[in-house]
Amino acid sequence: MNYNLKEMDTYAKKWVKEAGENIRASFPKTLNVTSKSNPNDLVTDIDQATEQYFIKKIKETYPDHKIMGEEGYGDEVTGLSGVVWIIDPIDGTMNFVHQQRNFAISIGIYVDGEGMIGIIYDVVHDELYHCIKGNGVYLNEKSIPKLTEAKVSESIIALNATWVAPNKRIDHQLLIPLVKDVRGTRSYGSAAMEMVYVATGRIDAYMTPRLAPWDIAAGIIMIKELGGEATDLRGEEFDMLKQNSLFVSKPGLHGDILRNYLKDGKW
Ligand code: IPD
Ligand code: CA
Ligand code: CA
Repeated sequence: MNYNLKEMDTYAKKWVKEAGENIRASFPKTLNVTSKSNPNDLVTDIDQATEQYFIKKIKETYPDHKIMGEEGYGDEVTGLSGVVWIIDPIDGTMNFVHQQRNFAISIGIYVDGEGMIGIIYDVVHDELYHCIKGNGVYLNEKSIPKLTEAKVSESIIALNATWVAPNKRIDHQLLIPLVKDVRGTRSYGSAAMEMVYVATGRIDAYMTPRLAPWDIAAGIIMIKELGGEATDLRGEEFDMLKQNSLFVSKPGLHGDILRNYLKDGKW
């Protein structure tokens, strides 16, 4: 298949900036909020309009590319051959609704299953994180340095408090030793933002037992490009066609945490 990464990257960044502009313009208006799988799984008319905006632009420009979008306006994607755009129009919808900050647009572009372009846009701060595989990662025009090793005792990890309280998905006792040993924990409520915080070294790792491909498609590309590690909680490759657990971190720290804290989990 013929494709031009530089051109796709230029279009994708332009569309993301335009969509961000529309989201900012929506702030004074009343949101139409509904829930999906449970009362806390929110979606707004802006999530839906943003996804539809991307789909229209991509289909007009690249009719043979496939699109996997969280809100379901894309294609039924059952395989990763060819070019696949994986889109989360607003990652952190609960923050978007309650705070009007701490959310991002996330787009990952995969070619025959390989992550080639990652774009995450912090709409409120007008901060565009972007990467073409092999060409480094940028925050707006500024190059982000490679990640360096970190020790557990000096690290800050992002982790949702849900997983250290009794819950139906994992044994909540499993992560308690890690939470005790690290310097600090954080929870920002947007997987895409948590991943750019790992990419920029603001935090050292991020982990969660369950995410969808659109939550992490872009972030994984950036973290790997910077020398960080991105797997599921068992240390295995993330499968872009299903839900997975996720563990991203600085190099070294990843193996250390897998061996010493995560190995007994049934993730
Ligand atoms: C959610 C956010 C959140 C994560 C959830 C995701 P959404 O995405 O990334 O941080 O904990 O699992 O579903 O629904 O706001 O796009
Ligand atoms: Ca999401
Ligand atoms: Ca979303």
